[in-house]
Amino acid sequence: MITLAHISDLHIDGGARARERVERVMAYIDAVADSLDALVVTGDLAEHGALGELEEARALLSGRLPAATCPGNHDVVEGRSAFRRVMLGEPGGEDPVNAVHRVDGGAVVMCDSTVPGEGGGLLSEETLEWLEDTLADLRTTPVVLGFHHQPARLHAPYVDALAMQGADRLAFLLERHPQVAGLLCGHAHTAAATAFAQRPLLVAPATAGVLPLPWEDAHRVTDAQPPALAFHILDDDGRMTTHFRTAPPQED
Ligand SMILES: [Fe+2]
Ligand SMILES: [Fe+2]
Repeated sequence: MITLAHISDLHIDGGARARERVERVMAYIDAVADSLDALVVTGDLAEHGALGELEEARALLSGRLPAATCPGNHDVVEGRSAFRRVMLGEPGGEDPVNAVHRVDGGAVVMCDSTVPGEGGGLLSEETLEWLEDTLADLRTTPVVLGFHHQPARLHAPYVDALAMQGADRLAFLLERHPQVAGLLCGHAHTAAATAFAQRPLLVAPATAGVLPLPWEDAHRVTDAQPPALAFHILDDDGRMTTHFRTAPPQED
């Protein structure tokens, strides 16, 4: 069994509001870390992809759990170099940020769905090849696959227009890899659950704020609600269960 905490879309911008909301969910996660295997963070750590924003995000995420991250569109406004430098400790570079994180009983595979400078997403040729090779090596290992952009329509028009393009190629690839039990993403700023390629597709709420649905009485991202997170449990039989939570206020 694997138990993951999943947060997304921190949008750290140097201000107190976004930082405090991340501190609140991280305090909640850290308090229960003994029962968890890893923290998954599906992108948009920073608001403008600035080095200082990413450094602040990295510090906020450094709790008791190993963190599996991937970039979001806001992290790579001017390219992937800042993300690679801060999050990977590398000199920089524009290669997609793809990584395998082994946990007890399985693996969390994180893919880069960003197109630097653009809001929408795409798994590049290089990333798809890496994913095919990586999953071939993990043929007998239960895998949870994470990325930033949702590959399926969520009926949230603003983010549906900025979804992962070419998702049929991902679906085709997943047909060959039944060990992938579930897909995790962010970007949509709404806690949501749907399906993609016969797998659960689980969307983490944004810590930064909620994007209203068309029938809700609001038209912009709002942080009026408490910051939220998801817990995912992968059973040994490959079944995934998800619980969504809001983080309680921190005591002074
Ligand atoms: Fe976002
Ligand atoms: Fe995003």
